[in-house]
Amino acid sequence: MAAWQDPRGLIALRWSTGADWADLVLADPLALLDDHAHCELGAAAAAQSFLSRHPSIDRVAEKLSATAIEELRHFREVHEVLRSLGGCLSSRAPNAYVEALHAAVRATRARDGDPLIDRLLVSALIERRSLERFELLAARASGALRELYARLVPSELGHAALFVHLCFEIRGEAATVGRLARIQELEAEVARAQSRGPRIHSGFQERAA
Ligand SMILES: [Fe+2]
Ligand SMILES: [Fe+2]
Repeated sequence: MAAWQDPRGLIALRWSTGADWADLVLADPLALLDDHAHCELGAAAAAQSFLSRHPSIDRVAEKLSATAIEELRHFREVHEVLRSLGGCLSSRAPNAYVEALHAAVRATRARDGDPLIDRLLVSALIERRSLERFELLAARASGALRELYARLVPSELGHAALFVHLCFEIRGEAATVGRLARIQELEAEVARAQSRGPRIHSGFQERAA
């Protein structure tokens, strides 16, 4: 049995986004696609960063270069839909969710903690959250956006699995699973705390009646 063949079970989210989130963000599709295009660029950059910082780890180069190329392809797909709807790419804005998640994980790292494992697991959780959001968008969008998000779902599942798989290879299963549980909790807190808005990783708190 290889646990990473079932990343939905291994990398379960500790907080689920309400389906109405998709209706909220789809109200401003150009802003959503702009944010999404930057997410894909960020994912490609993260894969290249791992690659350049850890080149000696066996099989990392092959897997991460393939991931970087795939993320750039996603960028082009998203950008194409954005342009076709009359939008354009803005200058990059910081991704508040990603930055807050890295900060929360850094703050809980033990003095002898492992920064590499933490970065890989954060990447896995970001991919997993993106997968959840793409599934919600595929279910609620129409036309080109529905096709786009339905097409992207399988890739994100594979990326989430890859980062956990790499942790297993590099540091072993025991070290990975223990830290993953804590980072899953942190990710849920960070995702819930995000503000609303037309972004892939925006928050969605139920409003009080
Ligand atoms: Fe992607
Ligand atoms: Fe991805």
